[in-house]
Amino acid sequence: MRYKLYREHKYISCAVNDVVRLIAKTDFTSLTETEKVTKALQGLWAVLAWHSQYEDEILHPMLSQKGVYSYAQLEADHLENKQKIIAIDNLLIAITESSNAEDQIEFGCQLYLRFRKFSAENLEHLDLEEVLLLPEFHRFYSDSELRDAEFEVYKSMSIEHMIHAIKTMFSYMNRQDRFVILNDIKICDAVRFAALWQAIQIDIEPAERADLAHKLS
Ligand SMILES: [Fe+2]
Ligand SMILES: [Fe+2]
Repeated sequence: MRYKLYREHKYISCAVNDVVRLIAKTDFTSLTETEKVTKALQGLWAVLAWHSQYEDEILHPMLSQKGVYSYAQLEADHLENKQKIIAIDNLLIAITESSNAEDQIEFGCQLYLRFRKFSAENLEHLDLEEVLLLPEFHRFYSDSELRDAEFEVYKSMSIEHMIHAIKTMFSYMNRQDRFVILNDIKICDAVRFAALWQAIQIDIEPAERADLAHKLS
C-alpha cells in the first residue's frame, strides 16, 4: 500500500457538510442564528485557504518539476473558490443588513442553494485530487519523499495550532489514519510530538490509546 496524501480531505468534506446542515436549519430572521453561520463560514474559509495554499505551493510544484501539469484545473478551482466565497459572504451581509424578515428568509434560501452547490463542487474537487493527482505523485515520488511533503505542513504549524487541528481532524478519521499522522509527526519533530501526544491522549478511547502508545514508543 502506497503512502496517502490528502488524508485531511476526510475532515474537509465533513466540515463543509456540517455547514450545509447548519445553513439548512438556520432561521435567518434571527441575528443570533445568522451570527452562528457567519462564524462557521469564517472558520471554514480559513481552513480551505490554508489547505489550498499548501497544495498550490508545496504539492503542485512537485508535479511540475516532473513535467506533470494535470493539477492546472484544480489550481483554477482554488482561484474560482475565492469568487464563490465572496458571493456567499455577500448574501450573508445582505441578510445581516436587512431589517425585512421576508428578504432575510429569501436571501437565506439563496445562501443555502449557493453553499450546497459549493459543497458538491468541492467534493468533486477533492475526488479529482485523490483519483487523478495522487497516482501521479505515486508514479514520480517514493513514500518517504511524499511523507517529507507532509512534514512541510507540520513544520509550518505552532504547537497550539497543531493540537487544535489534530484534535479536530481525528474525530473524522479511522485509527489507521490517526496512527500514520502521529507517526509522521513523531518522525518530523519528536519534541512537538511529545507535547501533542500529551494533549490528545484524552480524546482517544483507551484500547486504541494503548495500541498507539505501544506502536509509537
Ligand atoms: Fe485543492
Ligand atoms: Fe485538497
